[in-house]
Amino acid sequence: MSYERPNIAQMQGYTWGEQPADARTLKLNTNENPYPPSPAVGQALRTFDADLLRRYPQPTADPFRDLVAAHFGLERQQILVTNGGDELLRLAFTTFLSPGQPFATAAPSYSLYPVLAAVADAPVLNIPLDDHWQLPDDFVAQLNSAGAGLCALVNPHAPSGVLMPLAQLEAVADEFDGVLLIDEAYVDFVDPDAAQETTALLQAHDNVLLLRTLSKGYALAGLRLGWGMGAASLIEPMLTKTRDSYNINAVTQALAAAAFADQAHARDSWTRVRNERARLADALAELGFTMPTSQSNFLLAYAPASVPAAETLYLGLKARGILVRWFNQPRLRDALRISIGTPEENDRLLSVLRELTSHQD
Ligand SMILES: Cc1ncc(COP(=O)(O)O)c(C=O)c1O
Repeated sequence: MSYERPNIAQMQGYTWGEQPADARTLKLNTNENPYPPSPAVGQALRTFDADLLRRYPQPTADPFRDLVAAHFGLERQQILVTNGGDELLRLAFTTFLSPGQPFATAAPSYSLYPVLAAVADAPVLNIPLDDHWQLPDDFVAQLNSAGAGLCALVNPHAPSGVLMPLAQLEAVADEFDGVLLIDEAYVDFVDPDAAQETTALLQAHDNVLLLRTLSKGYALAGLRLGWGMGAASLIEPMLTKTRDSYNINAVTQALAAAAFADQAHARDSWTRVRNERARLADALAELGFTMPTSQSNFLLAYAPASVPAAETLYLGLKARGILVRWFNQPRLRDALRISIGTPEENDRLLSVLRELTSHQD
């Protein structure tokens, strides 16, 4: 006999990116930063006083909230610190969706969203992006007519990497009757001349929630620290009601502060990733791949018809110790999503791809 709620019994769980046991495997499948975190993180870890672990941590991670608030010109009350960006997503579902109310997103999108919707027993409204990976004109009309309570949009978009203009997001925020969560997990990698000040949206919109994380831009996926930014009225119920009582442990709080304080180190890695993104995109184009313009730390590379299918390339790379992501989904089946590595890693990927695309029977 199953004791699960019916929706839990029926749902599929999240599929994690593959984690190779062999350290020689080149891991370009989960969009981690190829460069190390700030040396200040290692220093904070080495000097952390274990005696502090006797006590509970500061319950709302206020020192980190204050760092973020000062950086973005916001108030502490506008910041919520979470156990990875993923916890913020979970809290948004718990806090803003009524039972049975639809969750909406622009498809394709982050594969965790439908999982969280299934846990919440919420119907999912998947509105396809247009051919340029942008929102269709009637996007908000569709949200409102379905009565969606929460809409999540990844920007820069995953898995295409395409950046959606701020004006479009603002138009959605203006008209939408629910909460608009803008998932900015990859925003640190946007070219400086294309960067948009999304925090400006928070001044006039009490229904906008921005998601940020240390996982990608700060090379700390293993630390599990993210945060939300929004109107104090949006943050408050998650902070005081739906969140776990001590969701950020003391070690994470200390290391996160060290990482965020070293902006110069993080920025340097963003520049290096951007430079490699441009070089890898050019090299893949020479091999015949086509890609939407990525403002993220990955490329969605569509295989040309003249070479083996994307799935075959994915398996061929894997057999040679290189992991990339292949999605068996409409619109993505012909593409590989490749995280940007270091120059040496990208060279290794390119040389194997050259081999796989040139030996044709
Ligand atoms: C689109 C998107 N949003 C949010 C996250 C959450 O990241 P984390 O929980 O590591 O902060 C990820 C991680 O891969 C992601 O791809």
